Amino acid sequence: MMASDIEQLLKKRRSVRKFKSTLVPKADVARILQCSRLAPSGANLQPGNFHALSGLALENLKSTLLEAAAEKRPFVSQYSYFPSPMPADLKAKQRTAGHALYSALGIDRRDITGRRNQFDQNYRFFDAPVGIVVTIHKDMGKGCFMDLGMALMALFLVAEASGYATTGIGALANYGDLVHSSLGLSDDELVVCGIALGQADKSEPVNQFRTERDALTSFTSFEGFED
Ligand SMILES: Cc1cc2nc3c(=O)[nH]c(=O)nc-3n(C[C@H](O)[C@H](O)[C@H](O)COP(=O)(O)O)c2cc1C
Repeated sequence: MMASDIEQLLKKRRSVRKFKSTLVPKADVARILQCSRLAPSGANLQPGNFHALSGLALENLKSTLLEAAAEKRPFVSQYSYFPSPMPADLKAKQRTAGHALYSALGIDRRDITGRRNQFDQNYRFFDAPVGIVVTIHKDMGKGCFMDLGMALMALFLVAEASGYATTGIGALANYGDLVHSSLGLSDDELVVCGIALGQADKSEPVNQFRTERDALTSFTSFEGFED
């Protein structure tokens, strides 16, 4: 494998928000999850559990979440994802990402119903044939969340290299308590996020945009190098 291969893979991966209904064989999901465990972790603790759902099991969870969303049930997240309040520079990034998504879909920023309907797609796992609920032991520290993030990245990349698409679904944690009870998770587990996995429906407008990244100089510093 060349360095450029992994670079190409990183550049090719993107979050997909509309999937084909084509089923993913359990063996593929298992292989991708086993590969995600190859990620390094502090003290090799390998934090995190992955609950893979398909078919009726996934439909049941989706129904529970969509019902909650329809009732406008208050969010009960089991951990904080973003800083609160969000500083202005981060808010601007969030707005840019949201704008890219909604303009790809032709949804006006003032169209509250359109935006809400799109947001509910999170709870549909974007129609992916596989939904994965990611949990971590509730006592884990920030370092372990970092380790889990590396496992997620490994999962995204192996899935991509295997011809599948993914998206992370942090929105799932909005109803972490419901996901917890619906799946009968252990009391020790905290719901971190969801993952949608399947084959990308490339023709869908929602899959037509790309997000941008910060310029190197904005997030790095170099000292002591010789050119
Ligand atoms: C852990 C995690 C949670 C995410 N949660 C959501 C989500 O709830 N809804 C959504 O539409 N996208 C979600 N995303 C996708 C991000 O918006 C996306 O990664 C980011 O905008 C960069 O775009 P890209 O993945 O296409 O490169 C999530 C991504 C990650 C890694």
